[in-house]
Amino acid sequence: MNNKERFIELLRATGRENIDYVIEDLDALGFFEAPASVRNHFNHPGGLVEHSLSVYDAAMAIREAMIKLKPSVESQLKPESIAIAALLHDVCKADIYNKVQRARRNEIGVYEKYDEYQVEYSRFPAGHGEKSVFMLLRSGLDLEDDELLAIRWHMGPWDLSQNSIDQERNYRSAQKFSPLVPLIHMADSASASILEADVTSA
Ligand SMILES: [Fe+2]
Ligand SMILES: [Fe+2]
Repeated sequence: MNNKERFIELLRATGRENIDYVIEDLDALGFFEAPASVRNHFNHPGGLVEHSLSVYDAAMAIREAMIKLKPSVESQLKPESIAIAALLHDVCKADIYNKVQRARRNEIGVYEKYDEYQVEYSRFPAGHGEKSVFMLLRSGLDLEDDELLAIRWHMGPWDLSQNSIDQERNYRSAQKFSPLVPLIHMADSASASILEADVTSA
């Protein structure tokens, strides 16, 4: 099973109404061919779906560890909510990459062409986590409040404006709203910084 097939199968397994519309809309935007970033983690075609699956795997592993340490959180960490929030947290990136061709000197000093991605926000400049939420609601997905907040705040404190006390208070309240919110942020960080990184021994 390739990454696209696994992603679709996990989403369909949630049994959520209109999930096929979400998959169709993502496909039309190029989600399955997009990279996860320009220069950092998974910056190759298909990197975005690979990153989303990696965040899902990390989230399920963290869920299991948290339930072992604190069994009472199980009811607030439903597997289908983990699937929805982890797999769909970065759909905002589906339409932001343009492939451009550049030239560079190779090892023997000869210029060669290579492909690179450039970020272009103008198609729907609505932010990051909040853009993912808008896109999913537009596709008809009925998000639960905890899933919506987990997607909105998946960047954790990195997405806070220093000029907005209101935003900071909303973020802090969201953290307490459900353990799903900090869990998805943890899984995103663990995936990008550990699972997807070239970790070499020091
Ligand atoms: Fe993100
Ligand atoms: Fe992410």
